[in-house]
Amino acid sequence: MSITRVGIVGSGIMGSGIAEVAAKSGFEVVLRSRRQETADATVAGLEKSLNKQVEKGKLEEAERDKVLARVTATSQLDALADCGLVIESVVEDLATKKDLFRDLNHVVGDDAILATNTSTLPVIEMAMETHRPDRVCGIHFFNPAPMMSLVEVVRPLSASDETIAAARGFAEACGKTPVEVKDQAGFIVNALLFPYLNNAVRMLENGTATSEDIDAAMKGGCNFPMGPLALLDLVGLDTSVAILDALYDEFRDPNYSTVPLMRRMVTAGQLGRKSGKGFYDYKR
Ligand SMILES: NC(=O)c1ccc[n+]([C@@H]2O[C@H](COP(=O)([O-])OP(=O)(O)OC[C@H]3O[C@@H](n4cnc5c(N)ncnc54)[C@H](O)[C@@H]3O)[C@@H](O)[C@H]2O)c1
Repeated sequence: MSITRVGIVGSGIMGSGIAEVAAKSGFEVVLRSRRQETADATVAGLEKSLNKQVEKGKLEEAERDKVLARVTATSQLDALADCGLVIESVVEDLATKKDLFRDLNHVVGDDAILATNTSTLPVIEMAMETHRPDRVCGIHFFNPAPMMSLVEVVRPLSASDETIAAARGFAEACGKTPVEVKDQAGFIVNALLFPYLNNAVRMLENGTATSEDIDAAMKGGCNFPMGPLALLDLVGLDTSVAILDALYDEFRDPNYSTVPLMRRMVTAGQLGRKSGKGFYDYKR
């Protein structure tokens, strides 16, 4: 299966990052948001990011222009018709993703692969909304997508070997290292990571230590590049709660039971970096 044109649905933290990675790797990218202004703003953000790379001498001006020329911003789902691969990266909500897969199934060609960037949700549920469950899989990038080398390729029970091979090939063409994992909540990384992040919030809630000291302890004591609370702010607290809820639904393990403080913060609009406030304050 040769993929030249890639559709990305959703232009949040991850959709915009994956678009950048794919365009820099030579793929034609169609970036679809629900609103044209958001899609255009995402491409403007990409241009800004590329300009910074040019200023730092990490990217040639001519290469920046080529990358930008490969990206089309749209609000129309039909614009994804010619894509060989579509990766959805919309909100971590199963009903929303299932609706989207149903629509995408009618829009893209029969040979196209439909993939989800979900962090935890059952890929098989999305696959069964289509008439091509053999050509549906997870392609799970990490945040920030341009920097992180891992991609989890998630194999639902229905996926063909060709689909998984094409997904691995795409990840490698993007300069990433793919690992294959079965369709189980949290896959590898989040199943291991989220009990730790959740317990860090529990510790904060219990008054064991301040946010700053919890993060400093894990950086200095374990040599982690960032502390758990700063990482939750990077991921987004709304997304983190959705991830924990999906993990808890599947395993009923108390370590996955979202600490109430995190839910309250989401209700208060304290989502982390993307809202300007989470465990820390951010300039917007
Ligand atoms: N944040 C992370 O660290 C991270 C890492 C890997 C994977 N993911 C996954 O990527 C996906 C997107 O997460 P994100 O962090 O980019 O979130 P985000 O909040 O930054 O962006 C979510 C996007 O979904 C869109 N959206 C919201 N409701 C929608 C609806 N009803 N229909 C269609 N689109 C809708 C929003 O407009 C936005 O473009 C999720 O599945 C998440 O689990 C997130």
